[in-house]
Amino acid sequence: MSLKSYLNFTFQNPTKIIFGAKTIPQLRELIPGKPKILLTYGGGSIKKNGVYDQVKEALKDFKVLEFSGIPANPVYEHAMEGVKICKKDNIDFLLAVGGGSVIDATKFISIAAKYKYEDPWDMVAKKFNPDPKYHPKESIPLGTVLTLPAAASEMNWSITLSRDSTKQKYFLIDPILFPKFSILDPEATYSLPKNQTINGAVDSFVHTLEHYATTNRNARIPDRIAEGILDTIISETPKALANPRDYAARANLMWSSTMALNGLIAKGVEEDWSTHAIGFEITAMTGADHAKTIAAILPGLWRFKKEQKKEKLAMMAERVYGKKYGTDDEKAYYTIQKTIEFFNSIGMRTTLSSVGIRREHFDEIARRVDYWHKFCDVPPLGEHQDIYAEDIIKILELCD
Ligand code: NZQ
Ligand code: ZN
Repeated sequence: MSLKSYLNFTFQNPTKIIFGAKTIPQLRELIPGKPKILLTYGGGSIKKNGVYDQVKEALKDFKVLEFSGIPANPVYEHAMEGVKICKKDNIDFLLAVGGGSVIDATKFISIAAKYKYEDPWDMVAKKFNPDPKYHPKESIPLGTVLTLPAAASEMNWSITLSRDSTKQKYFLIDPILFPKFSILDPEATYSLPKNQTINGAVDSFVHTLEHYATTNRNARIPDRIAEGILDTIISETPKALANPRDYAARANLMWSSTMALNGLIAKGVEEDWSTHAIGFEITAMTGADHAKTIAAILPGLWRFKKEQKKEKLAMMAERVYGKKYGTDDEKAYYTIQKTIEFFNSIGMRTTLSSVGIRREHFDEIARRVDYWHKFCDVPPLGEHQDIYAEDIIKILELCD
């Protein structure tokens, strides 16, 4: 059988990465000139683990203001407080220090502070509307110091943001959102609580699969890199959980998570972000951690789409889980089982009840995804764009 090949693509990732132990002092050389900096962070973990002190020491010759309290699952309403500071104090550089939530909120601040029209939320909600007024044109330059490997926001062009008042959780993708640089010091992740190490590993694993578990295009470069990331997360997560100060394990997890969603493995292949899209609605409804929602949805999605995804799930059984014999059907089933086993083995549950969802919520989840499609002009989900509201109910029925 002759396989298809790569989709045509353009690849450009402008974010400079500084990776390794004790690299935070390099901040002072990375920030050009002597800008007025707004340092952004979350609930204070960086003050407990020494990262804040390292950042402040590196920036001691700069004028630095602070904006803290960015919540996990960042919200528009809070981010707009940061926008006010940027405007009032003429901030000309943003430094986000934290995990995906801090970085995403700061990326939003970077474009919202320069938005010339009424409501910056429109850039998120109306991203598929061709009217240029809904698209960011200018931003405040931004760098990051990563403390939680998960979202890959430190090297990508996307953000996820919620609006409290409307209980919406939407993403935005735009090249303007690439950070100028990101510092990835694995030692900054030693202090992660177990549940956040698990969340990060699962989120990165699923990011890899949203590219890999789609169509078989004989695109060996993205496929083989994806398999390497999956294999690394499977082998290194238990080590980091057993010994939080295992530098090699932390370094492997950190680079895995960045590589899973910095655009590289997306090139030339179809993507299927339905697990994430359904998960976002669950977070918006129940406040459940992002990673927990996608761990609960993935098995149901795979069961529903097993025929379309069979070749890649079988390939994953062979190359990642080492199953050499059996039919493609058997191998695909094996991948579903082994992935659930892996998640459970590191302490991640894979049931809807673990994220507060029961049968009576299914219609509401499907209705919300449908509303998002109509409200934001988003095409149907799935690598074949063939997943509609009624299919979401079927997917949820096939979840555990
Ligand atoms: O707020 P602080 O005090 O910093 O504590 C955080 C937070 O409570 C803590 N933490 C972070 N680094 C730590 C640490 N605690 C101890 N030691 C450290 N070194 O961990 C908690 C969770 O942090 P958060 O930033 O929320 O986690 P994560 O990085 O998983 O980000 C989740 C957000 O990213 C979005 C998710 O939807 C969610 O809103 N995503 C963003 C994506 C993107 N931009 O491309 C893609 C993803 O699919 C995802 O949607
Ligand atoms: Zn994710």
